[in-house]
Amino acid sequence: MKNIIIFGAPGSGKGTYSDEIVARYGMGHISTGDVLRSEIKGGTELGKIAKGYIDNGQLIPDELMIDILAKTYDALPAGQGVIFDGFPRTIPQAEALKKMLAERGHELGIMLELIVDEETLMARLLNRAKEQGRADDNEETIKKRFAVYHKQTEPLAEWFQQEGIRNTFTWKGSKELMLSEIFAFLDTQK
Ligand code: AP5
Ligand code: MG
Repeated sequence: MKNIIIFGAPGSGKGTYSDEIVARYGMGHISTGDVLRSEIKGGTELGKIAKGYIDNGQLIPDELMIDILAKTYDALPAGQGVIFDGFPRTIPQAEALKKMLAERGHELGIMLELIVDEETLMARLLNRAKEQGRADDNEETIKKRFAVYHKQTEPLAEWFQQEGIRNTFTWKGSKELMLSEIFAFLDTQK
């Protein structure tokens, strides 16, 4: 499978659909949020820096993120395609990803944009808070994450449009429907 960038607001299902896509097409998966949370759990220097930003719903600085992404990508087996979940989130990150892939003779591939209304997103994240207790899943921080998404990340959709690889999927109330639409599209892309 080509590389896939899964893009959307907090709670839009980037992680959930990534798992389904990995199960169906057998590719690598990089969730930058998961990478950072595991650094926090391990008490590393990077984790200490990341915690302050994550708990406050803010983005980690681009230079740091780009470095982490390249190291994580190079640690995966080459040639099977990777799904990027939560990266890029800013235009500099997107430019850096394109450059990093080009340097390795690889391409951006396909961008999947998930559109979900904010009421549904909030309900999902508050529900996840009860099940998993993620530090940034509380109403105040979720609102900050939505604001950061609208200001810093959403404009990137247009960047992908310019690249000619933007594909939008809108939530219509059923996970099965969303998945079948995504799979039907990806089946044409292999
Ligand atoms: P990150 O971990 O990427 O969090 P996020 O973008 O806020 O997104 P979530 O993981 O909360 O949601 P998701 O879209 O994966 O949805 P999910 O599938 O879990 O980033 C966290 C933080 O790390 C950032 O705020 C930032 O500080 C930092 N960071 C990460 N990357 C960075 C970068 N590139 N640059 C700078 N900083 C970065 O679904 C949500 C819930 O809904 C789940 O519990 C799921 O089970 C449930 N659910 C219920 N129904 C459905 C359905 N029908 N479809 C999908 N999910 C459903
Ligand atoms: Mg996630």
